[in-house]
Amino acid sequence: MCGIVGFIGKKQAAPFLLEGLRRLEYRGYDSAGIATLDGGKITKVRAQGHLSFLTEKLKKNPLSGCVGIGHTRWATHGKPTEANAHPHSTDLVAVVHNGIIENYRELRALLENKGCIFTSDTDTEVIAHLISDNMRHGMTPQQATSAALKQLDGAFALGILFAGHDDLLIGARRGSPLALGHGADAMYLGSDALALAPQTNKITYLEDGDWAELYTDRIVIHDSSDVVVERKIHTSSLTNDVIGKGPYSHFMLKEIFEQPSVIKATLEPMITKDHALALPALPFNWKNVPRLTILACGTASYAGLVGKYWFEQLAQLPVEIDLASEFRYREPPMPQGGVAIIISQSGETADTLAALHYAKERGQKILSIVNVPQSSIARASDIVVPTLAGPEIGVASTKAFTAQLTVLLALALDAARTRGTQPDSRIQDILTALCDIPNKIGSVLRQENVFQELAQGFDTVSDVLYLGRGLLYPLAMEGALKLKEISYIHAEGYPAGEMKHGPIALIDEKLPVVFMAPSDVLFEKTLSNIQEVTARGGKVILLSDKKGVDAIGASVFRAVSLPSVDPIVSPLLYAVPVQLLAYHAAVVRGTNVDQPRNLAKSVTVE
Ligand code: G6P
Repeated sequence: MCGIVGFIGKKQAAPFLLEGLRRLEYRGYDSAGIATLDGGKITKVRAQGHLSFLTEKLKKNPLSGCVGIGHTRWATHGKPTEANAHPHSTDLVAVVHNGIIENYRELRALLENKGCIFTSDTDTEVIAHLISDNMRHGMTPQQATSAALKQLDGAFALGILFAGHDDLLIGARRGSPLALGHGADAMYLGSDALALAPQTNKITYLEDGDWAELYTDRIVIHDSSDVVVERKIHTSSLTNDVIGKGPYSHFMLKEIFEQPSVIKATLEPMITKDHALALPALPFNWKNVPRLTILACGTASYAGLVGKYWFEQLAQLPVEIDLASEFRYREPPMPQGGVAIIISQSGETADTLAALHYAKERGQKILSIVNVPQSSIARASDIVVPTLAGPEIGVASTKAFTAQLTVLLALALDAARTRGTQPDSRIQDILTALCDIPNKIGSVLRQENVFQELAQGFDTVSDVLYLGRGLLYPLAMEGALKLKEISYIHAEGYPAGEMKHGPIALIDEKLPVVFMAPSDVLFEKTLSNIQEVTARGGKVILLSDKKGVDAIGASVFRAVSLPSVDPIVSPLLYAVPVQLLAYHAAVVRGTNVDQPRNLAKSVTVE
């Protein structure tokens, strides 16, 4: 994983590199570094930790030069130390890398036998030595790079500098994404177009296996067989606006509060003025789809699990769902005429992209739900139904999740309508309830202080259990994930009915148990589970509606009354209290809410 940038032009490279890295920090923040060519010599500055440490170091030790590369790291091979920070270099070559070189051990042994001295524990350093070794045998930078690429197994996006070649920057990709930017007097490379947005909106996406020579005034692209190829220049619509926190203390809180407007924005293109469903034309007919497969990772996978319930209940459509990282390797058969729904905020998650390709190779139509329209997943799909959540900066996903739920429910309703599995009046009622969700979420947000106060009690707890049934079961898992991601409290999400088969053993007077239980058809069943917990002294925090709280609120540790909604849309509403609870628990415990330890926003390694 990691983010890379590169610059070649007539101006100083370092300011651009730092700005690009700032926009890529969502890909990792274990260390950062930049290298430039100064009078033909490779110079570099690297720092452990967040980008701000590199910025401080550069103030004391500025780098000059009009060609350079930069990197922000999410550690895979080697601890997050300065020695393992990119760029990795020899006297001839400096390299930044996003991805994993799988055969680095054998390459390293080979190079060490030839006398190369390694100074890091990374897989990346072999690339710098391989290219240098080729150059020492008389190859040009281009020949040396092309030959080295053919020896690498695994995934990579690379930016490479060559000592004595102030007029050349090379980029290459296989597996990991790489965007090239065309400026007036400069060329750029970056892990995504967002990194380049302040400089240019003219973007070329390299195809898998491509490598490119960047000069100040032109780019020459080669395919994996070294043949010079033309690749399209896209005009990116990304804005170069600096995304700020506004009045909020963290991006996550801002993004939680943006949810009413994000859901409205996501719904708008799918609803006519008369409040009828109007999805884009799909490249398949729901009537003929034998089975849906939903694939995603992390929070997006919990949105997918809610989607499974919706498609099955509303459209009577069989759905298989799996985590993208598991799916491909269990080699599942896929039905002819099937459709795969791929869900991803970033559109770059390596496991999700690999699962997409697996499904595509097995003849599935690919419908993706992504938040970044130019992303690799969007570009590999037959159709994209976008979430219009805007950039999500907080590593813990919030507004993208509820936007994904919005799209999934609209799709499930479309499927139900086409398949004739629900009366029109029911479809219209659900749509009305969905359109009203932003207002209902607004009232939950006005109760923020309730969750802030509840979170005070999470100051010293070490475990929390989240329970829900039916549509709220995926929300229990999402609530637990949010809490552990940002507060580092161990949490588990479980279907309430399964509690008696194991987790009940954990219950004692110290364990908070968050129950998500709207007064729907499953309420009575959940009530029994709540009693099982209170009977054992567990501290039940009940999230329900007025009816549920009136019924049992007095017998639990704490009860919070949320607005009443049609049970079918309840996952959208119940997402918000668990986000607020996790957020305030993290604040109470003083963790880095927006950039929690060890995580990254976009995981581009398998
Ligand atoms: C990372 C993030 C999670 C996210 C997951 C999937 O693990 O920390 O918040 O849910 O990736 O990301 P995607 O961009 O594919 O939705």
